[in-house]
Order: sequence, then C-alpha cells, then structure tokens
Amino acid sequence: MIITVTLNAAIDKSLSVPNFRLGRRHRTVEQTTLPGGKGVNVARTLKTLGQPVIATGFAGGSTGTRIVEALTEEAILNDFVRIKEESRTNTAVLDPTNGEQTEINERGPAVTAAELGLFHDKLLYLARGAAIVVFAGSLPRGMDSDFYAGLIRELRQMGLVVVVDTDGDPLRHAVRSGPNVVSPNVLEAEELVGHEFNDDEDRVIAVRAMIDLGAVEAIMTVPDGCFASVLVDGERELYRVRIEPREAVAAVGAGDAFLAGYVAARYEGRPPGECLRFGVACGAESVQRLGAGLVDPQKVERLLGGIEVGTLPAPAEVG
Ligand SMILES: Nc1ncnc2c1ncn2[C@@H]1O[C@H](COP(=O)(O)OP(=O)(O)OP(=O)(O)O)[C@@H](O)[C@H]1O
Ligand SMILES: [Mg+2]
Repeated sequence: MIITVTLNAAIDKSLSVPNFRLGRRHRTVEQTTLPGGKGVNVARTLKTLGQPVIATGFAGGSTGTRIVEALTEEAILNDFVRIKEESRTNTAVLDPTNGEQTEINERGPAVTAAELGLFHDKLLYLARGAAIVVFAGSLPRGMDSDFYAGLIRELRQMGLVVVVDTDGDPLRHAVRSGPNVVSPNVLEAEELVGHEFNDDEDRVIAVRAMIDLGAVEAIMTVPDGCFASVLVDGERELYRVRIEPREAVAAVGAGDAFLAGYVAARYEGRPPGECLRFGVACGAESVQRLGAGLVDPQKVERLLGGIEVGTLPAPAEVG
C-alpha cells in the first residue's frame, strides 16, 4: 500500500476563461471541480495507474465533507481526520488564448493540537500496512514547520520509504530529517539551496546539495524532465531525464503527476532510471488535461520511448 498525506486538502476548481482580464466579468467555457491538494492529486494518479493507495490528511467543514465524498465517488480509498475548521477551495483560472494561469488559493484551516494527535495516531496505524508514504503540499495555518520532519523520522524508523514534495520551511526541516526522496521543482529547490541556478552545472550541484542537506535521494523537476541524484545498487548516480516540452492545456499539477508516476514505478520495484522516466511521462501527459492528477495510462506508455534517460558525471566536490 502507498499512503499519500494531504494536510491542506482542498476542493480545486479549474476554470477555462478565454481572454481573462482583471476587473472584468467572465464566463467559463470549461470547468472541472475535483478534490485536490498535492497529496490527493498524487493519490488520484496512483489510482489511475492501478496502484494501491490510500489518501489521508485533514478534512474540515462542509468542504471537507465534499472532499471525502468526491474521493469516495472516484473510488480513491481515503481515511481523513475530520477537523472543525473549513477546508479550502482553490481556484485556478486558465486562459486558453495565451496559456496563462492565475491561481487563487484560500487560506487553509487551523488545526488543533487534539486533531494533530488524532492524525499522528492514524498515520502510524495506516503505516503498518504500507511500504511508501508520500507527504505532499503545504501545512495548515499555524502548524509547526517541522511537523513533516518528525513524522519522517518515525516512519523511516518503521522501515517505510518516505517521499516529500513541499516547499519553504517545511521542506527545509523535512530534508534534514533524512527522507528517502525529496522532489522540489526548480523554484522550490532554489529557495532550499539558497541561490538561483543558471545552467545545468548549477542544477547538478543543486540536487547534490539536497543530498548533503540530508535527503537519501533528490529529484529536481524541470519543465523538460528532471535532474536526480539516486542510489543504484547502493551507488550514487546522477540522472538527467529529458522530454521535448509539449504545449500545455494546464501545467498545474504536473509535479504531482510526476511524483505519482515515479512512486508507482518504484513501488513496482523498477530500476531508478525507469522510475524517473515513468514520472516524467506522467508529468508530461498530465499537462494536456484541465484538472490535477488526471492522466491517461495508455498515453503515458506512448510517451516513454521519446524520453531520454542519461547519467551525468558527478560534480566536483563542493565545500
Ligand atoms: N509542457 C510540458 N511538456 C512536457 N512535460 C512537462 C511540461 N510541463 C511539465 N512537464 C513535466 O512534468 C514534470 C513536473 O513539472 P514541473 O517541474 O513543472 O512541476 P511543478 O512545478 O512541481 O508543478 P505543480 O507543483 O503544479 O504540480 C517535469 O518532470 C516535466 O518533465
Ligand atoms: Mg510541485
């Protein structure tokens, strides 16, 4: 079993609005409403790929009820802690005439200490039947930024594989707690490492820096694939995986689809390079759809052959 954790689950609305302009009234030409939050998106893709997954986290108020009901309708197994404050609704406006995307994310609910305790117990209980745990997305308001970090240590001690996709301070703490995999995008990695990356050498050094900070393996997604420092039979290898970028209908959630693909392949025991290839294929497939976490497995398969998976020499030791 794979567990995905979404502490800030939401109802995600994606609206397609041609010629979107600030200060005007618009009508949508297409819209999707789906339960979301990064971990939920990852769970959706994993389910579509046929992997056993259970989504957990917090769900509050009537929006929380909607999240749980909609997940159940999608036949995505879920076991959320119900909280008192209302879960978020997030809105993404996509202008198909220029591909521009505007996102408005509501402030999430605050979580009480008692609710946190319930979640902690639930996660450790679910973990007894799981092999991989994915922490994805931001933390609810007011939560200690080392919350993921504490859980990562506990789950690692239980022998689980822990994968983290978050940003800012939660990522900073998480990476130091020794997760098996972190998978930031470029902006998140730049913030973590503390400077901008100007060329491929910088990008290679960046994934290496994430290992030095404490991650066992690190993947940085880029719009045309990823850079990764992973273990192959115990030896460290640097990978550069490349795909020809495609015109995106909606790029939001590409990282979530990437992560789901990577985790699905890893759960099946495929070699690291193939896990990265499969992740990139899922990320690329997902950009053709409005709504996060939606992929067509057959189209994913068709993309695999066009993805270049190469290894790079290790960068010169830094520091
Ligand atoms: N236009 C595109 N064409 C092909 N592949 C893409 C495109 N955009 C993204 N991808 C693939 O999806 C993966 C994730 O992309 P990206 O780094 O943009 O994610 P992200 O910023 O974390 O997205 P989000 O946080 O919205 O889920 C990458 O590995 C990339 O190869
Ligand atoms: Mg992302």
